[in-house]
Amino acid sequence: MKTLFISITMAAFAFTANAADNIPATIHADKAGAKINREIYGQFSEHLGSCIYGGLWVGEDSPIPNINGYRKDVFEALKALKVPVLRWPGGCFADDYHWMDGIGPKSQRPSLRNNNWGGTIEDNSFGTHEFLNLCEMLGCEPYISGNVGSGTVKEMAQWVEYMTSDGDTPMARLRRQNGRDKAWHVKYFGIGNEAWGCGGNMTPEYYSDEFRKFNTYLRDYTGNKLYRIASGASDYDYDWTKVLMDKVGNRMQGISLHYYTCSGWEGPKGSATQFDNDQYYWALGKCLEIEEVIKKHKAIMDEKDPEGKVGLLVDEWGTWWDEEPGTIAGHLYQQNALRDAFVASLSLNVFHKYTDRVKMANIAQIVNVLQSMILTDQEGTGHMVLTPTYHVFEMYTPFQEATYLPVDLESEVMAVSRGYYKVKKKAMDEGYRPCPMLSASAAKTQDGSIVLAVTNVSLDKDQTIDFRIDGFTAKQVSGRILTSANVADFNDFAHPAVVAPRDYKDAKLKNGVLTVKVPAKSIIVLNIK
Ligand code: AHR
Repeated sequence: MKTLFISITMAAFAFTANAADNIPATIHADKAGAKINREIYGQFSEHLGSCIYGGLWVGEDSPIPNINGYRKDVFEALKALKVPVLRWPGGCFADDYHWMDGIGPKSQRPSLRNNNWGGTIEDNSFGTHEFLNLCEMLGCEPYISGNVGSGTVKEMAQWVEYMTSDGDTPMARLRRQNGRDKAWHVKYFGIGNEAWGCGGNMTPEYYSDEFRKFNTYLRDYTGNKLYRIASGASDYDYDWTKVLMDKVGNRMQGISLHYYTCSGWEGPKGSATQFDNDQYYWALGKCLEIEEVIKKHKAIMDEKDPEGKVGLLVDEWGTWWDEEPGTIAGHLYQQNALRDAFVASLSLNVFHKYTDRVKMANIAQIVNVLQSMILTDQEGTGHMVLTPTYHVFEMYTPFQEATYLPVDLESEVMAVSRGYYKVKKKAMDEGYRPCPMLSASAAKTQDGSIVLAVTNVSLDKDQTIDFRIDGFTAKQVSGRILTSANVADFNDFAHPAVVAPRDYKDAKLKNGVLTVKVPAKSIIVLNIK
């Protein structure tokens, strides 16, 4: 297979300390960038399939061990991830959801039909109290998606009042009647979701007016200031961003972006666990194109908002494969292989790089749906498994709130087609995407050490990289590696640790140079002191 070499950044490499075949790289601890917003590690929990019911929530009377109805094993695993923000109740579900049906005594809550996702009947036992209490227990910010599509201004305004008013107001009184005295802290509030599609099929001009109207009536109650998020573009819809930046402007603090890897637009989605080499590289090329997409939306925002007041929030991203055979249609239950771990790692590396504009990202979704952290058994036997994606999020926790450090690294690049799965044997040209084999991201943590993530997506080529670290004297290095024999390997209930992190000992410091052996198909996260 013929490949070409490019420099991921345009840096010149002036030193020669590396052994003959080692790849030279530089970590610029002397050129620190912005703080990596912890919200980039955000999660998304929609009423979809078994994300809420059977995933996060089993109810107090369940034989599955629970804490006041929340699955204990899932809760504990999520606690270890330091989830910074959790989005709820959708997704498409949000624009069909009427929050008043999910408060008060559970026995009196009306059931609903989940129109977007398989027509499943839900009993509304998980509502506003259950969600906001979960966020408090996890120590994360709630991110509520309000209903613009089928809801009213009054309904949305009352929801904000119910959650955040501590005064003697009608909705605060209703909340107290339902057992919660103090208002919750709710910062992030989405005014609609996918307004161009399931959220109302609107034009950007029409939605901008809707945003302005709904937004007018969402009050900041004492002690709570809403960060107002507009329903943003899908993938390559730059016009949507442009119109909203013009017409909504600084009335919003954030605008969202949705970007999925392989959701079926450019070819079949394919199986989560059965794919060939071309499909593998093709998916990673699609994943990495998120950088171009972010850059283009950011360029529009930079022009209209040079002070950077409006954040770009990638509040839905991740892999979207075929549903697992035998599972309920519309529930989007998919397995999660080492390939998914690469999508997580490469995407997070991109978000770090644009953290000055990318203020939040929410992988879709937290449990049992699309690229989830956790899978629970669909038969209710109480089994749970951590996915390879979970392990990436856990290994990357030191990046939360660390200061971004630029990295120069050369890499072999594969050219992958924009259409059906094809990996090009010749040089890249129009219609092909670059898929570099190596990717790295570094940051200075609050304790003064450096966290470095290095990913080698090559199926067959081990690499050794010599990192020079400018502006930092390294004395000690330790780390972990996530790899497996096959990129299609995954964890299931019978084999929960096929893809799991292990200690990594192949990083050496000599004369200020950090030499890292990066096996094919691996993700390494190092702590450098
Ligand atoms: O995450 C699944 C769905 O994808 C969400 O409900 C919707 O917003 C998007 O199209």
